[in-house]
Amino acid sequence: MRRGTPDDAAALAALEARTFAHDRISRRGFRRFAQGGNVLLVAVEAGGRIAGYALLLLRRNSRRGRLYALARDGDAPPGTGRLLLLAVLDEARGRGLRGIGLEVRPDNLPARRLYEGLGFAPLDVVPGYYEDGAAALRMRLDLEEGA
Ligand SMILES: CC(C)(COP(=O)(O)OP(=O)(O)OC[C@H]1O[C@@H](n2cnc3c(N)ncnc32)[C@H](O)[C@@H]1OP(=O)(O)O)[C@@H](O)C(=O)NCCC(=O)NCCS
Repeated sequence: MRRGTPDDAAALAALEARTFAHDRISRRGFRRFAQGGNVLLVAVEAGGRIAGYALLLLRRNSRRGRLYALARDGDAPPGTGRLLLLAVLDEARGRGLRGIGLEVRPDNLPARRLYEGLGFAPLDVVPGYYEDGAAALRMRLDLEEGA
């Protein structure tokens, strides 16, 4: 596990294209997100290939982060996404964040299972959230002080 850099942008955009049909982050988007102010973590296999990534967006003057993206490459080991999310939670606690929010497609059962297992609770549904018009389920995790 390491921090993503602007040099990872092409590989991350390719992973994104293999993983998502809509709402993809572009190469330029990854370059920008890697330039600081946010938490971009990548999981790397022994040969250096990127197995997955997680992106937590941070805002100045806010102690809540937003998990903007999380993905494991299809042929990377199951559980890679979970390791990435655990690393994000560690990072968030280390930075003194009070909570993390995210949006997920209600029918994305692997992702929901992962989030619920780590304590994220459903908040509400946002109609028409995704590019294809699908609704999003918003979820939130409160990070207790000292936890
Ligand atoms: C969500 C994601 C990051 C999780 O990665 P991961 O930690 O490697 O975990 P897996 O995909 O192996 O599975 C996560 C959980 O879902 C379960 N699961 C897998 N397929 C499932 C299915 N079809 N239906 C229900 N549950 C399923 C797994 O058993 C696991 O639960 P467990 O840990 O309680 O056994 C990964 O599935 C992924 O990249 N998906 C595509 C991108 C995506 O949807 N990202 C999230 C956007 S909000």
